[in-house]
Amino acid sequence: MREHRDFLSIRDLSAEEIEGIFARAAHFRQALPHRSLEGKSVVLLFEKASTRTRVSFEVGIARLGGHPVVLSVEGSQIARGEPIKDTARILSGYCDAIVMRTFGHDRLEEMASYAEVPVINALTDLLHPCQVLSDCFTLAGRFGDLKGKKVAWIGDGNNMANSWINAAAVLGFDLTLACPENFEPDCDILDAARKDGAVVLVVRDPMEAARGAIAVNTDVWASMGQEAEAEKRRQAFAGYRVDEALMEAAGKDAVFMHCLPAHRGEEVTEEVLEGWRSIVWEQAQNRQYVQEAIVDFLIQE
Ligand code: CP
Ligand code: NVA
Repeated sequence: MREHRDFLSIRDLSAEEIEGIFARAAHFRQALPHRSLEGKSVVLLFEKASTRTRVSFEVGIARLGGHPVVLSVEGSQIARGEPIKDTARILSGYCDAIVMRTFGHDRLEEMASYAEVPVINALTDLLHPCQVLSDCFTLAGRFGDLKGKKVAWIGDGNNMANSWINAAAVLGFDLTLACPENFEPDCDILDAARKDGAVVLVVRDPMEAARGAIAVNTDVWASMGQEAEAEKRRQAFAGYRVDEALMEAAGKDAVFMHCLPAHRGEEVTEEVLEGWRSIVWEQAQNRQYVQEAIVDFLIQE
């Protein structure tokens, strides 16, 4: 079996490797002709909806001369019950990497443990590392080295929040998350980050989280797969909407971040999402370059 690396979590990379990926992403952003994936094929397997992740991977891989193969679950044998462990070995014979979005993180881990090529996490219920790595690239582009700076998370302790905790552990910025009771982030991820010296606080008060932060982040209150809980969650998260007053509490140059899609009037006001502090479009655009750099890094390893 060929030696390979996966990208299932930001914790799979060192700070030095992330620095290298960011430098490569900055290079790819300049739209220089690049053919580093010439002759390589990458399967994109999505078991949940996606706009940004799917298109940015597909376009990014093609832009580097590679061949993206989008495998729709409905039209594949996965929908008819073929096990992930069989799919993993079959796909490994045809392609050079697998990008997968799914529900349980264990499903992604099963893919990675049976695949003989790099597997990239395009979002699970637990983590969304491509998004957060790309968001750190966007933030570093504005604020320089993130070490010691404060980032705020407001709302659900979900896959995005968990990945921000992992990023804080590797990149050394301070993170304060304001979450309602029973919606805190994953405690194992939190413990592991703290054990490695990360400064990560979980508080109830959004103002406390936002105070002095360079960036205020939020996400939907009901993630994919939680649609049935939407109403219950709307009640639990009342008071966790990012509005102008909250942004005023943050640093004077603080930016607003959201992975999108956003629900205007729920987790964020229209005014903030469309306002001068919002960098959501830049975040979405940078997904492409950072993911190009991740695929390039893993395939060349
Ligand atoms: N932010 C994000 O991952 O968007 P998609 O669900 O559209 O891929
Ligand atoms: N937390 C959201 C992120 C979407 C990109 C979800 O999992 O649906």
